Amino acid sequence: MATDVEREKRLAGEAAAELAESGMTVGLGTGSTSTYFVEALAARGLDLRCVATSLATEQTARTLGFDIVRFEGPDSPLRLDLAVDGADQVAVNGWIVKGGGGAHTREKLVAAAADRFVVVVSSDKLVERIAAPIPLELLSFGLGATLARLGSAELRDAPPTPDGGVLADWVGDVGEPAKLALELAATPGVVEHGLFSQELVAEVLVGREDGVERLGRGG
Ligand code: A5P
Repeated sequence: MATDVEREKRLAGEAAAELAESGMTVGLGTGSTSTYFVEALAARGLDLRCVATSLATEQTARTLGFDIVRFEGPDSPLRLDLAVDGADQVAVNGWIVKGGGGAHTREKLVAAAADRFVVVVSSDKLVERIAAPIPLELLSFGLGATLARLGSAELRDAPPTPDGGVLADWVGDVGEPAKLALELAATPGVVEHGLFSQELVAEVLVGREDGVERLGRGG
C-alpha cells in the first residue's frame, strides 16, 4: 500500500497533469513527484512537445512515448507553456529549494523559460523557514578555491552533472534566502544554486490526505 507521502505526491502530480493542453510545450521536472506528473500526463494522451530536466526524466518520458525536444544550443525553444517540478523545501515566504537530486541547474533554466512554473510536493515539504542544505553545482576548474571562498560547503559523493558540474551543498546558515541567493550567484565557480525565488513560481500544488491544496505566488 502507498504511504501517505507517496499518495500526496501522486495527487499533486495528477493535479498538475490536468493543467496541460494539446499543442503545449511542457517542461518535465526531476524526482519522484515529477515522475507521478509525467505518468499522469502520459495517461492523458495529449499532443505535446516536452523538455526534460534530466537524463533520468528524459528516459522515463521517452519510454512513455513523449516527444522530447532538445533544450540545448541557440535553436532550443525560447518559451515553454508549462513546466512542472518537485521541490525539497517550500517555505511560507514563497522561497523554494530544489536540487536534492542534483538537477537544479537544468531545472532552474526550464522553470525560468516557462510561462507557468508549477511546483508539486507532498505536505512534508512545507517549512517555516528555508534551511541548509542548499544544493550547489560548481565548476571543476578552480574547485578548491571555490570551496574555500564559499566556506560552508560540502562536496557530494555524486557523479558529475550532464553539464560537467560538481555537486555540493551549502551547509551554513541560510538567514535571508534572497541575500544568500545573491551571494551564491556572485561567487565565481558557482554554476547555480538550488534557491528558487517566488518570482519563478506560478503556483505550488501540495498533496494532502484529502486532496490538493493550491498555494499562489508568494505562498
Ligand atoms: C531534483 O534535482 C530535485 O530538485 C527534485 O525535484 C526534488 O529533490 C524533489 O524530489 P522528490 O519529488 O523526489 O521529493
